[in-house]
Amino acid sequence: MSDEKKNAEKESLSRRQFLTYALGGTGAFMAAAIVSPMIPFAIDPLTRAGGTDYVEVGKESDFDDKLPKKVEFKVKKKDGWVESDVQLTAWIIKDQQGKILAMSNICTHLGCGINGTVDANGKSESPKDGKWFFLCPCHGSKFDKFGVNSPESPARRPLDVYDVKVENGIVKLGTSIQQRKV
Ligand code: FES
Repeated sequence: MSDEKKNAEKESLSRRQFLTYALGGTGAFMAAAIVSPMIPFAIDPLTRAGGTDYVEVGKESDFDDKLPKKVEFKVKKKDGWVESDVQLTAWIIKDQQGKILAMSNICTHLGCGINGTVDANGKSESPKDGKWFFLCPCHGSKFDKFGVNSPESPARRPLDVYDVKVENGIVKLGTSIQQRKV
């Protein structure tokens, strides 16, 4: 084979290699461009795990074991790309062990808002024996001041609760409610 022919063959081989590398590189780049935006969505639940926000709602000394106090607070919620302020309500009391108990105002029957039966003077307006502090306007469920449902109520379980942290005498609530462990 003449030298000229050999050189031409070498040249065409290196051109073929160049094209192979170029196409492979472009393919890899395009695959990375398609897949990389999906990675944050795939790992989002992992990055959010344990990342509950807490909101300050008052001093521990603001609450006692006599009657629950109503506390309203705002949290930022992100729904897809939309971020908005959501108002949440908690009823806070100290339980029989003196620990802060922060109850949701959502009835555990079908989700209506419950009301605390306290008048402007702080007196309970609840039924005769004063036992049932919370009333639900929808189907009449009743709960005592610690959120425990009356046996006759359509609601079959106590009011849900917020996670509570007390740091340096300040009460902080987690932003989502949990079913109560009784
Ligand atoms: Fe409260 Fe039905 S939603 S009693």
